[in-house]
Amino acid sequence: MFASTLIIFLSVILSAVQARRFRDTGGTIVFEEAWTIPELAFQNVYVSFKIWSTNDELVANLLDVHNQRLRSMNTNNIDFMVLSCAQPCIQSFSDPVTAENMAVHVNNELAATIANNTERFGAFASLAMHNATAAALELKRAVETLGFLGALVNDYQQSGTDGQTLLFYDQPEYDVFWQMVSDLDVPVYFHPRTDIQTILNLTFVHAPFLIGPAQEFAAGLSTHILGLGIPTGSVQTVYLSMSSLFEHWIVLISRFPKLKIIVGHLGERISSDLVRIDTREYPSQLSCTMRLRHCIELKRQVPFGLTMKQNVTTYFRTNIFETTSGNFAPDLLDFHINQIGLDRIMYSIDYPFINIPDGTTFINDLARTMKAEDHNSLARGLAIEVLRLKD
Ligand SMILES: *[C@@H]1O[C@H](CO)[C@@H](O)[C@H](O)[C@H]1NC(C)=O
Ligand SMILES: *[C@@H]1O[C@H](CO)[C@@H](O)[C@H](O)[C@H]1NC(C)=O
Ligand SMILES: *[C@@H]1O[C@H](CO)[C@@H](O)[C@H](O)[C@H]1NC(C)=O
Ligand SMILES: *[C@@H]1O[C@H](CO)[C@@H](O)[C@H](O)[C@H]1NC(C)=O
Repeated sequence: MFASTLIIFLSVILSAVQARRFRDTGGTIVFEEAWTIPELAFQNVYVSFKIWSTNDELVANLLDVHNQRLRSMNTNNIDFMVLSCAQPCIQSFSDPVTAENMAVHVNNELAATIANNTERFGAFASLAMHNATAAALELKRAVETLGFLGALVNDYQQSGTDGQTLLFYDQPEYDVFWQMVSDLDVPVYFHPRTDIQTILNLTFVHAPFLIGPAQEFAAGLSTHILGLGIPTGSVQTVYLSMSSLFEHWIVLISRFPKLKIIVGHLGERISSDLVRIDTREYPSQLSCTMRLRHCIELKRQVPFGLTMKQNVTTYFRTNIFETTSGNFAPDLLDFHINQIGLDRIMYSIDYPFINIPDGTTFINDLARTMKAEDHNSLARGLAIEVLRLKD
């Protein structure tokens, strides 16, 4: 009994230690990089992207780890890549049991796939977010037993028998999950997802070409992050609620000050717009309700009797990190460095939705204008800290 417990204990320690050893040759570290399993390949049917000749090519690149992906890492000076399940992954499974089982399956498959090359590949856990306690326990298993580096969630969790109830993780019932994230000291990456058909029909029927990266992804996910739009509840109540999810973020971050939230695509536009987000001035006696529509500056809202201690800009400088994934815009990067600081921004690509060589061109060009130590921080140094690759 004791011996077997000891063996399990030792193997957990060993696998965790092994998972944290990475090739460290001064190359880049990237971690919004998608992968999937054959059972979920159906989720990745796109016809409008230009960078693949066929959808089959995309799926082949998503399924692959050790072939074209690794070769491209080698020729593009990528030391280490963290893989996660391509959107919407678990977040589209409305049935909690199906979702939980699929999350365990995805995590086990990913662990097994990268087991023979953890020097080059790490993983973020996929999680069913129906039940915060179950999500916390699966995250713990993924981190402690499988050696995963954190989790990636694809925006809201669909739930309900008709799949029309959307769950947002900034609600109080998720405290138990965030407590675990905080205890494990791992980051949680917020990735966009394709919206449920009801929202697509309501919002994009006039302009379906804006579905995806052009507009839908940033609009949806930034709303989740700022928490102004869609509370827990059915889509029908979306526009009726007075709750401000961002208040929960703020309370969340105050209560769990170590929380590390990562947002891709250069902050899903939030950090481009902080001045406007934080300086809306309206008469302070007006409370922020949907009836009044226009709120006073976010910091002064007091829904649920909770006070936001800092403005959004400040939280972007303390608990939120962003990556450059799929948004290789040097001028915007400069602006963000000025807004939130270089110590909040990390390189990533968004392979295979984005070509790896395009990322290489972007990061290499920056080396000409940035100080060497700043460039090192962006390309790898901060990622090593946030992912705790040298712990
Ligand atoms: C890991 O296993 C895969 C699948 O068998 C194989 O293609 C790959 O070459 C292996 N990698 C290493 C580093 O052994
Ligand atoms: C949530 O998950 C926990 C841990 O697995 C379990 O004990 C609990 O019964 C679940 N709650 C619901 C409502 O299913
Ligand atoms: C979305 O719109 C299409 C086309 O009008 C319709 O067939 C479909 O039932 C709608 N779906 C939902 C969930 O509203
Ligand atoms: C946000 O808060 C910081 C710290 O209190 C303050 O310096 C800054 O001016 C605020 N920004 C805005 C736009 O209100």
